Amino acid sequence: MSETSPHDVLIVGGGVIGLAVGWRLRQRGLSVCVLERDAAPARQTSRVAAGMIAPVSEASPTEPALLTLGLASADMYPAFTGELESETGLSVGFRRCGSLFLARDGDEAAVLDRDLAFRERLGRPVTRLLPSEARRLEPALAPTLRLALDIPDDHAVDPRALTVALTRAFTRAGGELRTAVEVAALSVSHETVHGVRLDTGESLAAGQVVVAAGPWSGQIAGLPPTARVALRPVKGQIVTLSDPAGPGLIDRVLRMQPGYLVPRGDGRYILGASVEERGFDTSITAGAIFALLSDAIELVPGAAEWRIDELNAGIRPGTADNLPIIGPSPVLDRLLWATGHHRHGVLLTPLTAAIVVAAILGETPPEGAEAATPGRASVSAAAPAGGAAEAAETAAALAAGPGVEG
Ligand code: GLY
Repeated sequence: MSETSPHDVLIVGGGVIGLAVGWRLRQRGLSVCVLERDAAPARQTSRVAAGMIAPVSEASPTEPALLTLGLASADMYPAFTGELESETGLSVGFRRCGSLFLARDGDEAAVLDRDLAFRERLGRPVTRLLPSEARRLEPALAPTLRLALDIPDDHAVDPRALTVALTRAFTRAGGELRTAVEVAALSVSHETVHGVRLDTGESLAAGQVVVAAGPWSGQIAGLPPTARVALRPVKGQIVTLSDPAGPGLIDRVLRMQPGYLVPRGDGRYILGASVEERGFDTSITAGAIFALLSDAIELVPGAAEWRIDELNAGIRPGTADNLPIIGPSPVLDRLLWATGHHRHGVLLTPLTAAIVVAAILGETPPEGAEAATPGRASVSAAAPAGGAAEAAETAAALAAGPGVEG
């Protein structure tokens, strides 16, 4: 078994979260290596993400802590993407486009009115629009539209462009990116993580290990049951379309019930997403794609002319309380989690990186970070009084659902 010289930090997972954490840590002078099992970074959940920076649209009255995290991270986005673009010379497609929530019939309009009252209480701008007013903003909307809400501060970024820029920023800053490497297990002794063991037998030592492996974070080997985190895979199918006539038919993010249409601003559109409890299955199904397309075309009849460029399915890392899991393990020293972002990985990227950097450098965490602490009861894969068998059962039950839709 070979042993290479230790890094300050090893990051397991080269998606948007792992790359952003790595970039921020390199900026602070730590030696960092990101380990990615695919041949290139960000080939899984990050690649399929729509990229909505939409904490107000995604807000739920039952999830106030998630909203606080989302708002904090959304506020970081302009500076985060601005810095990334100026360091790399690459655009990340951050568009301050705003969002419209749409209703097609009386039932959906009633939901929108309830949403409006809740969102007004948040103190963030939101305006009720009659169909004619909504169509003045987005003339391609169907005349059958019943009601709309304008949420002007909910925007979008292009996650693929974002991960390309993060990869460049990280490696240019001196970070090491190793692709096509499979982590077989974390190396643990005396309640401390010392590094990782690869499936080739190679051991990598590190001062700290950050697990940012999305929905696969809960499966990482080498941990005692009480140190594991409980995640459940939540499948999302998504359609990438492009308008042969070019950009401009739709400018804002459109939110439907359910689903969304995200314009990239260049004639491409992301139409998503199903929310399915199917384990790690990523097959594309006729019913899910039909439902997405039929909703979109009903609201934007011109979308019937768009080309279908890609059909994709990804896996979200769901947690029992829909909050992410970010920060030091309460069980093992030198282990940190940056996972469980469910529907909000891209939105929560800048904040997640800030929380992890603060934890590693012993600095004051960003406000609200305690809501994401790995120490909260709902995160542990082990039942409080249970042994390994009970822990495994709990994790299996979470993996099987039933689901909580975001
Ligand atoms: N971020 C939206 C979704 O996961 O579908």
